[in-house]
This record gives sequence, structure tokens and C-alpha cells, in this order.
Amino acid sequence: MIDLFTPWTFKGLKLKNRVVMPPMCQYSVEKKDGIATDWHYVHYVSRAIGGAGLIIIEMTDIEPDGRITDNDLGLWSDEQIPALARIVDACHKYGAKVAIQIAHAGRKAQDAPVPVAPSAIAFNDQYKTPRALTTDEVKAMPDKYAQAVKRAVQAGFDAIELHGAHGYLIHEFQSAFTNKRTDEYGKDLTKFGTEVSRAAKSEMPARMPLIMRISAIEYVKGGYGLDHSIALARSYKEAGVDLFHVSAGGEGPIAAAGKPGTHAAYQVPFAREVRKAVGTPVIAVGRLDDPALANAVIGNEDAELVAVGRGMLRNPYWTLEAAAKLHKDTNVPMQYLTGFAH
Ligand SMILES: Cc1cc2nc3c(=O)[nH]c(=O)nc-3n(C[C@H](O)[C@H](O)[C@H](O)COP(=O)(O)O)c2cc1C
Repeated sequence: MIDLFTPWTFKGLKLKNRVVMPPMCQYSVEKKDGIATDWHYVHYVSRAIGGAGLIIIEMTDIEPDGRITDNDLGLWSDEQIPALARIVDACHKYGAKVAIQIAHAGRKAQDAPVPVAPSAIAFNDQYKTPRALTTDEVKAMPDKYAQAVKRAVQAGFDAIELHGAHGYLIHEFQSAFTNKRTDEYGKDLTKFGTEVSRAAKSEMPARMPLIMRISAIEYVKGGYGLDHSIALARSYKEAGVDLFHVSAGGEGPIAAAGKPGTHAAYQVPFAREVRKAVGTPVIAVGRLDDPALANAVIGNEDAELVAVGRGMLRNPYWTLEAAAKLHKDTNVPMQYLTGFAH
């Protein structure tokens, strides 16, 4: 029987349990230099002390104009490595493994003077109209992802996640709604994400897993569905992606969206389908902060891992409390043992 507290080994990644902290932007880089601050240190290390098996550091961008805001993390320079390495080392000390989400915000880069995207289509009236990347610029982009991945490997991360979801650059290329190009990157919607995956993989040790976060369905009218995302995932798997983190939406204005309810476990059916169809492990995410429910997702083998986002914003010790509620053993830090005594 497997449950939320069953360890999981996948390639070179050894997790003590199945609980993941998903990437959540903190917009807390005060100096706008992309360098992690004390806030990030305390925020992530608290969740490591709080028992999470895998922590995925928030969207971290490959170039300054690839940030949602100028307060986002970046990995376009070697100067950004040491502050992240310090977080990774401390999380390791408290038993968590750490991944980082490597990204480019594309047309959703709000502070970029002129955001770039596959096509010059604005996200909505409040956003700038992006400039369409030239074919040569598109061809140069995978290497920027690869350079950021190389720096992440130097910082000591245990896994890499590419942000292929929520309407950011990779998603923009893989969607007919945002990609109206007539060059090879428009004719084949998988081409950009595939090239980025290969480039990322080329900078990673062979046993380090590459995760891709995908939006399994789009919420806009006429947006893509599971058939398309499964086809994408198959191509990305061939290009080296080992594990999919299955989210949804983010490509268009929410008001216009046929968004499904955000009831508990609302994205688990997508994770289950991707897992079955693509044959890789998956991370399920989305309103799974009831421990019994998270445990059921693992027990029913809908996903290998479960991510708890807002639940961990409210409570860094979510994992320790989940173990107590489910009557499972976990390593409560010695300093906190009395807090968990029966
Ligand atoms: C404050 C905040 C910031 C987020 N930032 C990111 C991000 O950087 N990258 C990403 O892929 N998703 C991001 N998300 C989405 C979460 O990773 C997660 O998928 C979502 O919150 C649903 O999970 P939950 O119901 O457990 O919160 C963010 C969510 C929140 C609440």
C-alpha cells in the first residue's frame, strides 16, 4: 500500500514523502536584480522544516524581460546563483529536495517595455501588446533556458521544472490561440517546447529528472483540450521530459473563460489521464489541501506526487500536520516534537 508518506525514488531523486510545494511567485525581489532575498530563504526553508518532500522554487526567469514583474527571481546571471544555493543547502539540511521552475513570461511580462511572444496578441486590455519574436530570436531562446538550467544545476538543485503552463512563453507557443506564426514554430506547435526541453536536458546530469508543468486544458472558448495536451506531452517526453506537473488554464482572461469549478481535486482527472496516456509519473495539483484527499490521490494511483500550494501559504507545517492527522510517521524536528505529542 502506498500513501502520502511513502518515500519515492525516481532516477536520482529520492523523496521522503509524496508532498510537493508547487512554485508560487513571491514578487519579493526588492532590488529588481533577480536575486533571492531573506524573504525567499525564510519562506522556502520554513516549508522544508515543515516536512515537504519536494519544494519547487517559484517561476525564475531566463531574461529580465521574461519576468512577470521586476520583483521576480531570475537566473540569467551567475550573480543570481549564490542566494539560491544558500536556500537549497538549508532545505537539504532539513530533509527536503528542491527543484526550480525555469520560465519566460512571454506576453504576460508586465514590466517589460515591450514584451515578446509568438504573435503580437495582447493578453487583455490591461496588458501591453507584445512584439512577435523573429524566427532567429525564437531559435536563440532554448539556449537561454539552457543557460538558466546550467546555473540551477550549479546551485545544487535536485530537479528542474520548465514552465509550460498558465499562458507563459512555452504555453503561448503550444497553443493555436496565441501562436499564429507562419514559420516552422507556428506549423508545429510542439517545436518550441521540444527544443527547450532538449536544451534543458543537455545541461542536466543524466539522473536528474526534468519536470514540465503543463496546462492540460485551456479555459478560453475554442482553446485546446486533453487530446492536444497529451500529444504535446508525448513529444516533450520524447525530448527528455521525465515527469509532468498537471495544471490548467492561464492563457486568457478568466472572465471569458469556460473555467471549471475550483472544487477540491478539480485537476486530478487531468493528471490521471496524462499519466495513463503518456506513461510518465505525474504531480497532481489544485485544492488538495485536505490530507485525506491528498492521501487518496496517492493511494488510488492517480498521481505519484501531490502538490499543495495555498494550503502551504497558510501553513508551512502542512506536511507535519497531515502526518499527524493521517497517523503516519514523519520526522518532526526535535524542537517541535512537543507540539505534535498526543
Ligand atoms: C501566490 C501564488 C503564486 C503562484 N505562482 C506560480 C508560479 O510561479 N508558477 C506556477 O506554475 N504556478 C504558480 N501558482 C499556481 C500554484 O503553483 C498552484 O498550481 C495553484 O495555486 C493551485 O494549487 P492549490 O490549490 O494547492 O493552491 C501560484 C499560485 C499562488 C497562489
